[in-house]
Formats: sequence, structure tokens, C-alpha cells
Amino acid sequence: MSRDRIGIIGARGLVGTEALRLLAERRWPADQVVAFSTGGTGPPTVAASVAYGDEALPLQAISDETVRGVGWFIIAADEATSRRVVPGLLKNGAIVVDNSSAFRMDPSVPLVIPEVNGHALDGASSLIANPNCSTIILLLALNPLRKALGLESVHVATYQAVSGAGAAAIAELHEQSEAALAGRELPPAVFPVPAAFNVFCHESPLDADSGLCGEETKIIRESARIWNGSTVPIAPFCMRVPVIRAHSQVISVRLCRETTANEIRRLFASAPGLELLDDRENGCFPTPRKATGRDEVLIGRIRPSFGERCNESVGCRDWSFLVCGDQLRKGAALNALQIIERLGGLAPAGVGATASPNDIAV
Ligand SMILES: NC(=O)c1ccc[n+]([C@@H]2O[C@H](COP(=O)([O-])OP(=O)(O)OC[C@H]3O[C@@H](n4cnc5c(N)ncnc54)[C@H](OP(=O)(O)O)[C@@H]3O)[C@@H](O)[C@H]2O)c1
Repeated sequence: MSRDRIGIIGARGLVGTEALRLLAERRWPADQVVAFSTGGTGPPTVAASVAYGDEALPLQAISDETVRGVGWFIIAADEATSRRVVPGLLKNGAIVVDNSSAFRMDPSVPLVIPEVNGHALDGASSLIANPNCSTIILLLALNPLRKALGLESVHVATYQAVSGAGAAAIAELHEQSEAALAGRELPPAVFPVPAAFNVFCHESPLDADSGLCGEETKIIRESARIWNGSTVPIAPFCMRVPVIRAHSQVISVRLCRETTANEIRRLFASAPGLELLDDRENGCFPTPRKATGRDEVLIGRIRPSFGERCNESVGCRDWSFLVCGDQLRKGAALNALQIIERLGGLAPAGVGATASPNDIAV
């Protein structure tokens, strides 16, 4: 199997579009990138194409002929599509990174954030699962604290962008916002309640016994897997906010050891994948708009959780901070691409300049 071609399945969706953008930034040649439609929205028309840098790639249907000779796949589609197409791709000898939740809890499939548990790729199977976007952003932020000081417990409140629910959710927020400003109310379709000018509980199904929603359960279970069966308790509370793109999280931790604010800043500043934005004097902290289009997860507003009860330069064990991360980049497409790069694929010709937020269409 030649490994110089990569296929993006679900190339018209938000994650698929972002994967193509990242490949184009890395100057991966257009004739080695294949854009696939899942067929979920009907067969692609002959004229259908997707943008690839300044070029256009024809959209292919998935068939024995079109997948032949493609060595790497990023799947950016729904769970059912992943379950349907993965066996055939693996049989062909391809290496597949799947963004859906179809295989995340399968013990034979590594669930990987390269900065956190990249070692899980050593001797990896041909199928690798990308964790949930909120899990990736949370664990990337916690990684330096966990390694250096140990974690006793974690609380996280999420403020998730609507694009986490796919392309249709962005359209819904736009339409509802315009209608609301014109004094009209449009009924919700993607979300159970209006998204415009609102904050609401994550729409994933609630478990009747635990009261957890699906997103909260994913964070808990995926974190334990990625942390190799860790029993550190994580208390997530997931919300949607009328933000187009990039998830925010307020994280509160109890550490195993006391530490100071400066030590925490130092750990975050030197951690791969994080960028410290913690300027109290000028009120400069992470926001989803600053995080949009960025590979790094922004982190800041670091303070002792119990404020005046702790002298932050003497030290304490309870700390809170804010993170904002582009869930379409590090939370999905970038993480998938980093896995492929770590497995030796797609040595970048000109590793990507980060896109400016103005280049981001969503
Ligand atoms: N959105 C996120 O923040 C995020 C983060 C992490 C993981 N994920 C996971 O990644 C997978 C893909 O998510 P997504 O957010 O990219 O979903 P999406 O935007 O809804 O796209 C998924 C599929 O919807 C169809 N589609 C979307 N926009 C379209 C358009 N403008 N025209 C025609 N068809 C369109 C495409 O089907 P065809 O292929 O048939 O054209 C596409 O493959 C899911 O499993 C999701 O759970 C998403």
C-alpha cells in the first residue's frame, strides 16, 4: 500500500473542510488528496467539488475503485458512516483516524491526543480514534499539571460553540439571530431550544440515573481511557453558548501538591499545544474569537479557586483557569493530522502557518 495519498471522508462538513485547510497549509500536493462524500446527503453530483487552497478537488463517492491506493484516511462523518466504511478501508490496508464516537471506547482502538498519550500509537492498530473535542481541549490543558503536580479532582464547566453540532447548527444560529433582531422567532431544528441570544444545556441525551448528558459522559469515560484507567474524578457540566466557533472551559482542579501561580504559569507556558494568555494588568485573557483558527489552545485567568483564602505566591492546591480552543482544529482535524504525522505520514512540505481568523469561513 502506497502511503502518499490521503482521503478525507465527509469533506463537505465542518471537520472535513478544516482537514483540507490544514493539508493545504502544509502544501500537501492536491493530486495526493482525495475528497469523499459520505453519501449521507445523497450522491455527489458530477460537478460537486471542494476547495483545496487555491484549487478545487472533485468530490468522490466511496467505492472500491475510489478508495483503492489511498493509504491514509481521516473520517469526518457521522458514527453510522464510520461503522459502515471502516472495515473496507482497513481491509484495503489503509490507516484510518476516525473523528466520530463509533470506536472511541473499543479497547483495541487507541484513543489518542499526541501530546498526552502519543505513546499509545507505538505499535498501534490501523484504526485510531480521535477523542471528543471537549475531552481533547480539557486534557491538553490538564496535561502539564497532571505530570508535574498530580491531580486529585477536576471540575469543568464548558461553554461550547454551536459548530460543535455541525454545519447545520451554524446556519441555524445565523438565521435565528437575524430573525430575532428583526423581532421574529424561528423555531429550533438542530437544537432543542433557540440558540440565538441564549445559553442552554448541551443537547446530547440525558442519562436518567446519573443525570449526566452524553457529552459529559464522553468527557469522563474518554479521559479515564486516555489517562490509562485513571480514577481521578472529573465533574463536567456542559453548556452551549451562541458562539460560532471555539469551545471555552472553566476548569477547577485540586492538585496533589501545593503550588504557586508563577509555577502554574511556567508549566502552561512550556507545555506543547498551549499558549499562555494571562495578562491581568491589561485584562487580556482567552476568548473563543482569539482561539478561532489557532492550533494552540489558549489558557489564562489563572487564580486560586478560593481567592482570598489563598496567598497565591505562597501556594495552595486549588486552582481555576480558563481555556479556549478551536474545536474544529485541535479538537478534531488537527489532532487527527498530528496522529497521522506521528505515524510517519505526510511529512509536511511547508508546515502550516496558522490561518488568520479572517480566513476562516465559518
Ligand atoms: N464539529 C465539531 O466541532 C466536531 C469536533 C470533533 C468531532 N466531530 C465529529 O466529526 C464528525 C463530523 O462532524 P462535522 O461537524 O464536520 O459534521 P457536519 O458539518 O454536519 O458534516 C458531516 C456531513 O454532513 C454533510 N454536510 C455538511 N455540510 C454540508 C454542506 N454544506 N453541503 C452538503 N453536505 C454537507 C456532509 O455529508 P456528505 O459527505 O454526504 O456530503 C458531511 O460529510 C462527526 O462525527 C462529529 O461528531 C465534530
